[in-house]
Amino acid sequence: MLNILLQGFYMKTKILNNSRISSLSKLNRLLLSEPYNGAKSFILVDENTYTHCLPVLISKVSALENAEFFEVPVGEEAKSLEVAAQLWGALLDSGADRNSVILNLGGGCVSDIGGFVAAGFKRGIRYINIPTTLIGMIDAAIGGKTAVNVENAKNQVGFFHQPEAVCIYPDFLDTLEPKDLVSGIYEMAKTLLLCDKSAFDRLVRLASGCVKIPLKEIATFIPQCVDFKKSVVESDPCEKSIRKILNLGHTFGHAIESYLNEKVQPIPHGIAVGIGLKCELYLSVKKLGMSEKTYEDYCRMLHYLCELPKFTLKDTEGILSYMRLDKKNSDSLILCVLLQEIGAPVIDVALDENEIRDALLKFGKF
Ligand code: GLY
Repeated sequence: MLNILLQGFYMKTKILNNSRISSLSKLNRLLLSEPYNGAKSFILVDENTYTHCLPVLISKVSALENAEFFEVPVGEEAKSLEVAAQLWGALLDSGADRNSVILNLGGGCVSDIGGFVAAGFKRGIRYINIPTTLIGMIDAAIGGKTAVNVENAKNQVGFFHQPEAVCIYPDFLDTLEPKDLVSGIYEMAKTLLLCDKSAFDRLVRLASGCVKIPLKEIATFIPQCVDFKKSVVESDPCEKSIRKILNLGHTFGHAIESYLNEKVQPIPHGIAVGIGLKCELYLSVKKLGMSEKTYEDYCRMLHYLCELPKFTLKDTEGILSYMRLDKKNSDSLILCVLLQEIGAPVIDVALDENEIRDALLKFGKF
């Protein structure tokens, strides 16, 4: 499998792949060189990555043998101001300084809170993401979005603070539960819908035809997704324009996730995005004339991979109330990314509330 180490995120980004040297060896070399050599290192883990990934990291990256580690709660619970304050206190107690570096070993929740803590500590210290989930590898770890949740609404407070490096070691995917892999496949579908029809078709064929998810084949899409995300972020790091395309599926997805987490039962981020993507592709057909076949292909994969919740009218109204809170809205219009066709996204499409209700109710009727 491909190993990737992205370094120095902006123009000088290097992607070191197609090499026999593992990305963890490259990380070791990086940490032993200037300006890391001698810096205090702190590894952020959750309970899962503490058990399954930290031993691998420490055994392969000798530069981290004296690193301290901090454990945060699993999942969205980690992304709170309280956890951030505890981590800032722990860093101070451990003598962290402006030269220190935080290594986030985990999925999107670990990199979101770790990046947030790095952005705030002493007005900004360095951090490196070592994603252990598929979503982390293709999306969350890249691009410098950091955030915590406030009052059950996702990512309401945060900074753009770019990681110094992103170290992708695909063997960590072996430690994932099926629902987390499925989450990553939906996010992968989002990326391929934005950029490459033949790759999207191949993913659908692979992911909706097998009893067991073919992990090795799925992992072959990682470099393309990484390249695409990197190029979008490099041209618009602070999401003023083109970067908004990466929110495809997320206007509905975030609201679904926040609503279900608070009122029903928690749902993994990527699965909420998968549902959101279906709603947004449905509206893409209705409003922008996207091909129905693309919608149907996506739905086939979505429903094949996972059993999904059903929404009642009450749920629909609850989700709508979270959509009104979304950061991407302006002047009380609900703005969304839709597709004209694969590879042709349109940003800032205004939706009225009846269109949103229609898409959510349609969701249960495939
Ligand atoms: N996950 C979307 C972005 O990084 O912009």
